[in-house]
Amino acid sequence: MELHTVEWKNDSVVMIDQTKLPNELVYVKYTDYNDVAEAIRTLVVRGAPAIGVTGAFGMALAALQSSSETIEDLLSDLENAKKTLFDTRPTAINLSWALEKIMEIAKQGKTVSETKETIITTAKKMADEDVNTNKKMGKIGAELFRDNDTIMTHCNAGALATVAYGTALGVIRATKESGKNIKVIATETRPVQQGSRLTSFELKHDGIDVCLIPDTAVGYTMANDLVNGVIVGADRVLQTGHVFNKIGTYQVATMAKQHNIPFYVAAPLSTFDLESKPEEIIIEQRKPSEVTRIGDKKTAPDGIDVINPAFDMTPPELISGIITENGVAKPPYKESIKKLFEDKK
Ligand code: MRU
Repeated sequence: MELHTVEWKNDSVVMIDQTKLPNELVYVKYTDYNDVAEAIRTLVVRGAPAIGVTGAFGMALAALQSSSETIEDLLSDLENAKKTLFDTRPTAINLSWALEKIMEIAKQGKTVSETKETIITTAKKMADEDVNTNKKMGKIGAELFRDNDTIMTHCNAGALATVAYGTALGVIRATKESGKNIKVIATETRPVQQGSRLTSFELKHDGIDVCLIPDTAVGYTMANDLVNGVIVGADRVLQTGHVFNKIGTYQVATMAKQHNIPFYVAAPLSTFDLESKPEEIIIEQRKPSEVTRIGDKKTAPDGIDVINPAFDMTPPELISGIITENGVAKPPYKESIKKLFEDKK
């Protein structure tokens, strides 16, 4: 059975509770957008494209929850919901991209009921488009890998980080579907363990050969010729080719450069931010207990200072190519990324 991370079902949002994986595959259902915001904040759902679509579904719930009788009141309720949803996680641009899209659609509405209907239809369309985009990206990215390659990935940029199929893991799926034999090395991705809890679970679930390593073994595996290429997802890609992704991505990319291993990023065009500069991006800082405990066990002394950023920035000079649904951008990125968007028009 294909993993479906988030969907709209009978006027509610249904999603896999990722905090329970890999031990239990359970689904949770929400009818209140405030609960959806809390689910994003607490990582019940995570991954840039998945939180984008979830945000859009949250707006659809807010529309249904609104008892307003005028368009103006409905728009004001939606603005409040947008703020609550937006404030959950700052780094992935897909969330604000999806919320803005829904607001744009809402502002064109003529009647309250028609506007509510259009918001739901638009959010559902975003979910369908996410899967189609990932499949397109997968086919394009599959060309970059060879038969018998071992590909390293960091964090989870798979079906569980999108609606289904995945971005980086979508490329891995498509490479396998194209008939090539491939193996995956997944980093465990401390401190929240998206690699060991989610990537390993998802790839095993789909019968893809996966081997788990501690984050500290990236250098060892590369130095011992166990890795032919790296592919990761992204939370935000800038016009300059700077990539914001899960903490540790920068270390993996640096190590890949040291060993002459190609390092690819897979990201849909909805993950690109063509306006901001690197220093303007807010890196989410998460609570110290993610670092001072492993599960229920305390692994650091009380009162210890902790730095726990959820994301880091990989500079363009470490990236061999950025795979999108419109093709692969190669250095120099300023020109190649601009071209991707021109081709989209
Ligand atoms: O904190 P998370 O689990 O939301 O972080 C997820 C990542 O960093 C992913 O690599 C990124 O969102 C891309 S997902 C297709």
